[in-house]
Amino acid sequence: MVLTWIFAHRGFSLAYPENTMKAFIEAERAGADGIELDVQMSKDGQLVVIHDEKLDRTTGEKGFVKDLSASELMRLDARYKFKQTLVKKEPVPLLRDVLEWLSNTSLQCNIELKNGTFPYHGMEDKVIDLIRELKLEEKIILSSFNHYSIVHVNRHAPDIETAPILAEGIYMPWVYAKSILASGFHPHYRYAHDEIIKKSCQHHIAVRPYTVNNESEIQRLIKADCSAIITDDPAKAKRINDDIH
Ligand code: G3P
Ligand code: CA
Repeated sequence: MVLTWIFAHRGFSLAYPENTMKAFIEAERAGADGIELDVQMSKDGQLVVIHDEKLDRTTGEKGFVKDLSASELMRLDARYKFKQTLVKKEPVPLLRDVLEWLSNTSLQCNIELKNGTFPYHGMEDKVIDLIRELKLEEKIILSSFNHYSIVHVNRHAPDIETAPILAEGIYMPWVYAKSILASGFHPHYRYAHDEIIKKSCQHHIAVRPYTVNNESEIQRLIKADCSAIITDDPAKAKRINDDIH
């Protein structure tokens, strides 16, 4: 039986503010094997960790990530719905700060390039340069809904693992992943059927479904030998994983 890695989606986002250092630290504490995070670019070209292009949902501020400098973004408070329970402010982190912390852990990291709405010119190369500077090539999987970015990374940094994200079911996704030189794909869990996982494994293509929080679905995907699952609740997924193995 394949060991399925547990990736904490936006960190331990069930219990802590998504895409913050707090959520990443707590994911590690909960026993996750890796974290997933979302990257965008600030007005001054810095890589910042935040999911939405708009600031309102997670920081309560108006406007767009792309219109603020990194220092302005880092002054925002990303605690949103956890303001009542968390005393300390949680800034929007720089990717550099997260990766420097991660380099001292045993965690893997799935960096999602969030450039489907705004193209963030040059973002792929900035991410590649940072991974190289911190010597994290072995610990990173780059993913995106923007498959042109996946191809760009595969051409310019073939040693870094990549995976297109698939929101819908497609025919023979392992063939598609190979066709764009990716070593895996990240399907919505509803489209990660057992047969697709089996065929992908046979073709040495990793399958890491998102975002799986339901106990029976987590069990199914682990039993089907998924390479990893991406979940908001790494504590629950780890418990289920440990029970199965
Ligand atoms: O990478 C999988 C998942 O994170 C993609 O969806 O919207 O949560 O970034 P989203
Ligand atoms: Ca994501």
